[in-house]
Amino acid sequence: MAGTTPPNTPSATPTVRALFDAMSYGPAPEGDAPVRDWIARHGGTFGHYIGGQWVAGSGTFEVLEPATGKPLAQVAQGTSADVDAAVAAARAALPAWQALDDHARARWLYALARGIQKHARHFAVLETLDNGKPIRETRDIDVPLVARHFYHHAGWAQLLSSEFAGHHAYGVVGQVIPWNFPLLMLAWKVAPALAAGNTVVLKPAEFTPLTAIRFAELVHEVGLPPGVFNLVTGDGSTGAAIVSHEGIDKIAFTGSTEVGRAIRTATAGSGKGLSLELGGKSPFIVFEDADLDSVVEGVVDAIWFNQGQVCCAGSRLLVQEGVSDRLLAKLRDRMERLRVGSPLDKAVDMGAIVAPVQLERIRALCQQGIDEGATCWQPSWAEPADGWFHPPTLFTNVAPSATIAQVEIFGPVLVSMTFRTPEEAVALANNTPFGLAASVWSENINLALDIAPKLKCGVVWINSTNLFDAAAGFGGYRESGFGREGGREGMWEYLKPVRAHEAAPLPFIHPVAPADESSDEPRDAGTMPRIDRTPKLFIGGKQARPDSGYSVTVHALDGRRVGEVGEGNRKDIRNAVEAAHAAGGWAKLSGHQRAQILYYLAENLSVRAEEFAQRIVAMTGDPLDAGVTEVEAAISRLFTYAAWADKHDGAVHDVPLRGVALAMHEPIGVVGVACPDPYPLLGLVSLVAPLIATGNRVVAIPSERFPLAATDFYSVLETSDVPGGVINLVTGTRDALVRTLADHDDIDAVWYFGSHAGATAVEKASAANLKRTWTEWTGREWLDPRVGEGREFLRRAVQVKNIWIPYGE
Ligand code: NAI
Repeated sequence: MAGTTPPNTPSATPTVRALFDAMSYGPAPEGDAPVRDWIARHGGTFGHYIGGQWVAGSGTFEVLEPATGKPLAQVAQGTSADVDAAVAAARAALPAWQALDDHARARWLYALARGIQKHARHFAVLETLDNGKPIRETRDIDVPLVARHFYHHAGWAQLLSSEFAGHHAYGVVGQVIPWNFPLLMLAWKVAPALAAGNTVVLKPAEFTPLTAIRFAELVHEVGLPPGVFNLVTGDGSTGAAIVSHEGIDKIAFTGSTEVGRAIRTATAGSGKGLSLELGGKSPFIVFEDADLDSVVEGVVDAIWFNQGQVCCAGSRLLVQEGVSDRLLAKLRDRMERLRVGSPLDKAVDMGAIVAPVQLERIRALCQQGIDEGATCWQPSWAEPADGWFHPPTLFTNVAPSATIAQVEIFGPVLVSMTFRTPEEAVALANNTPFGLAASVWSENINLALDIAPKLKCGVVWINSTNLFDAAAGFGGYRESGFGREGGREGMWEYLKPVRAHEAAPLPFIHPVAPADESSDEPRDAGTMPRIDRTPKLFIGGKQARPDSGYSVTVHALDGRRVGEVGEGNRKDIRNAVEAAHAAGGWAKLSGHQRAQILYYLAENLSVRAEEFAQRIVAMTGDPLDAGVTEVEAAISRLFTYAAWADKHDGAVHDVPLRGVALAMHEPIGVVGVACPDPYPLLGLVSLVAPLIATGNRVVAIPSERFPLAATDFYSVLETSDVPGGVINLVTGTRDALVRTLADHDDIDAVWYFGSHAGATAVEKASAANLKRTWTEWTGREWLDPRVGEGREFLRRAVQVKNIWIPYGE
């Protein structure tokens, strides 16, 4: 409101009656002098924090105060030399940091948590000045959650060796964070990274670097060993220098989907770990039996919290038709009473937008909404003219395909649509490429819990919204990114199996033998030609001839010709993807039912064990024993995943709420798999079995060099009640076929075990729809169950959905 004065301002000499009628607010500003003094003490200029020292930058940029538009500080613009120095410091600090025992690292994280609490108000005021968000939020939400994250992760540091046995830290981690929750995003990234034993190079967003700078001071004050935490400030070019730095082992990013895609492309083939927390267009679904007054308050929290600059903001209001008019009337009433003004005022609901460019973007999208025919409603009062403010805004008459219904506006703008049935609500909710969060409002718990698993997103809040805690994972499905932050699931993002560092790699691709067209089945002249048994592709539960009409010869390692397989192409892959999608019912089976089918597969494979062993050694040239061992291992592996099918369950997180957060393991969807050449049967089974045990459907490209074990395997599939489309096999040239999978928008993940060039191409192509990838080009000893099976595979096969369910009336 203009100058924080509400529309119903009392007259100059108010009576008690008039005051009650107006119920207006006087100003209630939080003092900012200590924080402005702190900035002044530094001469208003800040450098980088590298190797435990403050380093002046070679240039600086200006940081502005969103509520006034005035300069707040000068901050160093990081160059690639600064990033080099920070990475070198982080690398140098790594051995000693990793050599600490769990308790020692826990003590450091604990010290940081205490320090944040001790300076909580300083951090809150600084964040409000720098970002423009209301002090009520920084003081009561952001900063307490920051401390909570450091406490929680002090706990994981303490438990690291016992709870994450067999794993250790990535090494040096590069972290790039956005401006909407500057200190909170720092905490979400730094706390788990340090707890797991990594060292860190962090870059805050250019609009909001000040609380990260204050955090670096705190790091210094508590005496964290130099180089364990390094801060380089700067813009996107500094971020890009971190992302492409060869000395960094893992990148963790939160920000726009566009930059997330660029980072996926830039890191392709580098071997770096990657987690991305990106944008969203989260649905806020209201059924007609919901408590509409609670819903209104929920909407306020969903879209006007932090001025709507929240990745998981409930920005799409989906209302059941019968209550839509009533809800919208209540909502307009509430919007009329929202207060927008100085974020330091303790009684405002909304502060300033972070930067003019962001304000312009919001305005332009609103205009586009109007131009596309939607109806825009804003309260009658005007927002302050100084600084960068935007009023709460409601759009109705919005088509589901409208730009404002599809694009992340990242501002206080709500678009509303209606639905009639629960099915329609789910279809509308899932009708964007994103998948970060959703709110479901209904007094019928059966309905709410029926809807939650059908929503394609990483977090669902039942009759609530924007709940966060360090014990519960947060992160997206689809183009909202991958990886989780918080809880046990978040810790995995900063850990690797020990084997990856220590095992001597197996050669991955067997050398191609010189072609020898002599057959393995010589025939006497004059005999009848044998009946051809050229294997086909296996798509949708049926044998299918390759679209190309070509077959390729399979040679043994010694060059003998051992058979032919169909040469699959793009069309075959597309058909297989379609068949896999049509087999969605597989995900709905119980773990027990899936286990039964995996056991049946093992049983039928064991009946034909000798034939499979012969076939393998005919191709590989290994002694028969080796073939027998491989088939036995494949049978055992099927048993392993039959065993896991009803045991890889989720968790109930202990969050500070009267209620629970259910961490559900959900299948990723349709997964493309490119199998390794060694162990042609075991490799296939080792990758496909964990995926189908957890409810995924698979399009697999068998070993290119030795595909016959896989084509024999489809006859086992046919006799084992595997529903059509759950496992599809397309033989042919691995890198060409996998490229089609990686490009395909209806493929949700690709697992690739092949060459470095192939892995790079898969990761690059995956950026288009941000599919999850797992690529390896260094080889595994598939026979060894410690590396060939188990939780590592299962974790990769699922994504965690956290469903928050408050109790009580
Ligand atoms: P952004 O994604 O460009 O910025 C996030 C961080 O990435 C910043 O630290 C930035 O310096 C850095 N960065 C930029 N380009 C980079 C690159 N090529 N390599 C590495 N790091 C890079 O977000 P921006 O431009 O500030 O906001 C634009 C839009 O992005 C917003 O309007 C909003 O829609 C969305 N956004 C979404 C966020 C989320 O949490 N989902 C957070 C911030 C922005």
